[in-house]
Amino acid sequence: MSKALDGVRILDFTHVQSGPTCTQLLAWFGADVIKVERAGAGDITREQLRDIPDVDSLYFTMLNHNKRSVTIDTKNPEGKQVLEALIQKCDVLVENFAPGALDRMGFTWERIQELNPRMIVASVKGFGPGPYEDCKVYENVAQCAGGAASTTGFDDGPPVVTGAQIGDSGTGLHLALGIVTALYQRTHSGRGQRVLAAMQDGVLNLCRVKLRDQQRLERTGVMKEYPQYPNGEFGEAVPRAGNASGGGQPGWILKCKGWETDPNAYIYFITQAPVWAKICNVIGKEEWATDADYATPAARLPHLKDIFAEIERWTMTKTKFEAMQILNKYDIPCGPILSMKEIAEEPSLRKTGTIVEVDHPTRGKYLTVGNPIKLSDSPTEVTRSPLLGEHTDEVMAELGYSPEQVSALRTAGAI
Ligand code: COA
Repeated sequence: MSKALDGVRILDFTHVQSGPTCTQLLAWFGADVIKVERAGAGDITREQLRDIPDVDSLYFTMLNHNKRSVTIDTKNPEGKQVLEALIQKCDVLVENFAPGALDRMGFTWERIQELNPRMIVASVKGFGPGPYEDCKVYENVAQCAGGAASTTGFDDGPPVVTGAQIGDSGTGLHLALGIVTALYQRTHSGRGQRVLAAMQDGVLNLCRVKLRDQQRLERTGVMKEYPQYPNGEFGEAVPRAGNASGGGQPGWILKCKGWETDPNAYIYFITQAPVWAKICNVIGKEEWATDADYATPAARLPHLKDIFAEIERWTMTKTKFEAMQILNKYDIPCGPILSMKEIAEEPSLRKTGTIVEVDHPTRGKYLTVGNPIKLSDSPTEVTRSPLLGEHTDEVMAELGYSPEQVSALRTAGAI
C-alpha cells in the first residue's frame, strides 16, 4: 500500500527532541527522511541517558524511527558540496539548530533558494523574532516562557513543569503541520517557503485556555471554577489551578482504594452537568439532585470542594478500575490515573500500534510510542532507528557518487 507522503524527500538536519519528533512523523507518513549527522558523534542524544553501554540510547531510538542516517561534516568544503547535492534533491530541509547555525554553515535562505527554489526550509527555534530570538532553548524553558509553568501546580506551591513534552514534541507537531501545509501550497505556487515554529509560540498555543482565563479574570476579577473560589484570593494573573478541569465542567483528581501505597491509585472525576443526578445516585447523595444548593451547575460552584470530598469518600471504596466500570455505566466522564508501567502493558494500545515493540541490532527489543495519528489509507509500520551513518554509502550512490569518490571523501573527513 502506498503512503501519504510517498515521494517526499526530507533533508533532516534535526537533533535532540523537537526536530526529530517532527521528521519521525513525516517518515511515518511515508516520506524518505535522510538524517544528516556528524561522523563519529551524531545526534547528541545517541549517547545521552544511555541504559546500555555503547548502544544508541532509548532517547535517540524512540525519536528517530523510519529514518536513514548519513554522516556529513557540513563545515568541510567537500562535505558542503555533498549537502548542496542533497538540497537539490530534497523537498524539505528541517532543522532545529541554535539560531544562526545554518547561516554560519553557509546555508542561508538565499543560498538554499539558489540551489533549489522549491525547497521548504522548516525550523524549530526557542523564540520567534524579538528580545529572545538568539537564545538556545530546551523543553522546560519553553514551558516556562509559554505560560505552562505559571499555570501548572497548586496555588500554594511554585510553578511546575509538566511531564508532557509540549515544548519539544508539541512544537515538532506544529512544525510537521507547517511543512505539509507548505508542501500543499507548493503544488500550486511552485515555490518553497520558510516555516518557523517557535517553542514559546507552540506552548502558548497549547495554553490558549489560560489566555482566555486571563481576560476573564481581568474583566470579572473572579473565576468561579478555579479552586481559589470562593475562599481564596485572585491576583492579577491567572493562578495555578491544581487539578481543576480548565473547562466548563468541574473536575478533580480523587483518591481510590489503595492510594496509601500506590501513588497512582487515583481517578479524574468530572461532575458533568447532564449526569449530575446519576452522580448523586452513585455516591448515595440522592438529595443533592433536587437541593437548591446543589441542583444546578451555578449553585454547585461555591461547594465544589465539599462535593469532591464527598465523591472521594465513594471513590476511596473502589479501585480506579472498579470506579471506572461503575461510572462508565452511567456515562459519567472519568479517567484512571495510569502509570507508565500500566500503559506499557495495556493490550489495546499494542493492538492499535500506539505502543510498538521494535527490534534493534545492538539494543535488542524495546518499546516505543508508535504513530498517534492513524490514516486509513496510509498505515504506519514502525521500523528501527538507523545506526550512525548506516545509509551514507547508499545515499551517496543515489546522489551519483562512485564508491571511489565516497572513499576519498571519507578519507578527507567530509563524510
Ligand atoms: N557538521 C558540522 N557541524 C555541524 C553538523 C554537521 N553535520 N551538525 C551540527 N553542526 C554544528 C552546528 O553548525 C553548530 O555550530 P556553530 O555553533 O559553530 O554554528 C554546532 O554544531 C552546534 O549546534 P547547536 O544547535 O548550537 O547545538 P547545541 O548543542 O549547542 O544546542 C540546542 C542545542 C537544542 C539548545 C540548540 O540547538 C537550540 O536552541 N535549538 C533550537 C531550539 C530547539 O530545538 N530546542 C529543543 C531541542 S529538543
